[in-house]
Amino acid sequence: MPPPPPPSPRTSLASRRTGRSFNLYFYSVCGVGFILSTYLMYMYTSYRRAVAESQMLDLPQNADVSSRWMDLSRNFDDEVDFSEHFMLLGKRRRNLCRQAVGNVLEVSAGTGRNLQYYNLDPLRTPRDRRIKSLVLNDLSEIMVYQAQKKFEHMQDHTENIAKFRGDVRFVVGDASDRRLIARPDGGFDTIVQTMGVCSMANPVAFLRRLGELVRQPGERSTGVSLGAKALKEEEPQQRKIDYGAEEEAQESEKNTAEREPQSTVSDKGGKILLLEHGRSYYGFVNRFLDNNAKLHAHRYGCWNNKDIDQIIQDSGLVVESKRRYHLGTTYEYVLRPNPRQRAAEKEVTTANATSSSDAVAVTAAAAAPGSEQSKSAWWKIW
Ligand SMILES: C[S@@+](CC[C@H](N)C(=O)[O-])C[C@H]1O[C@@H](n2cnc3c(N)ncnc32)[C@H](O)[C@@H]1O
Repeated sequence: MPPPPPPSPRTSLASRRTGRSFNLYFYSVCGVGFILSTYLMYMYTSYRRAVAESQMLDLPQNADVSSRWMDLSRNFDDEVDFSEHFMLLGKRRRNLCRQAVGNVLEVSAGTGRNLQYYNLDPLRTPRDRRIKSLVLNDLSEIMVYQAQKKFEHMQDHTENIAKFRGDVRFVVGDASDRRLIARPDGGFDTIVQTMGVCSMANPVAFLRRLGELVRQPGERSTGVSLGAKALKEEEPQQRKIDYGAEEEAQESEKNTAEREPQSTVSDKGGKILLLEHGRSYYGFVNRFLDNNAKLHAHRYGCWNNKDIDQIIQDSGLVVESKRRYHLGTTYEYVLRPNPRQRAAEKEVTTANATSSSDAVAVTAAAAAPGSEQSKSAWWKIW
């Protein structure tokens, strides 16, 4: 039998090339696998350590951790910029804030991360979607200071003609304290609250207070006496910036409002716009949140495992719409005042006025059924 012919130079070159590309593929897969498994190991050990640390902390669930927000060394924007970017939260903030009209109050505003999304530009905003006045509140003075700087910076970099013309106020203090933010005539048209409920010891009382401050069905907000009660008397902590407030316009609007009260039939009152984070609809995510909650609250001043739906229900506010994102951990709500709640509050206020007491016990009426939007589609987790 004759010996097999030697491989042609072309065949041996091709097989050497195949061998080399296989090696390259093999080592790349091994490299990526190694990096990934090391990263996962690191994540897992960090998680176990966090769980162990969390268990050692003597901190009851929902304890008041708001003092963490007074820490001058913190830079909240730096802390959350990356994760908010990754979770596309800017889009959620924009959607929410674009609904804010008229006399607007933002509570627990932090460093003013929502400021860039409001319709503050009188040039490009149709009249019926404009913001007339803006009150920004936070418990932490450093946060309010940063929000004010952000607002001033924004306005300084805006052409004169497009600058915000309304009244702007910055109020430091606990927004659930009835003595802090005075109800303007006719209430606030819109109240915005984003990512603050998680850091409150008593979020239900807080939301009920928002229900009082917002415009009730049939009312017309004039915004004339807008401001903060207690701080107005003492002055020091309230800062006001007046970029040429349209006081005359407001006055004439007030007169018109007195002449023509809004129809109560179709009017649902002002809006409370809420963006929050809390429990997921998936058990495994909730287990993860629960295991880390104490440490997270201790470090950052925020309980990330709160049952937001339950809080909203207990507040008695009417749910107009609701959406959830990020495996159900991000909540977007449009809420309306509950007229029955307001009536009950009025009764209590009158009774208390005669006994010259300041504190008002709010009796919450049962939540009126709201139209709840169904769970997001499973693929829309972001
Ligand atoms: C996680 S930060 C959110 C800040 C901002 N709303 C945002 O979306 O970026 C929570 C803020 O709620 C504020 N806060 C907590 N309890 C409050 C209260 N009772 N009244 C007003 N602000 C409060 C804290 O000071 C903190 O700045």
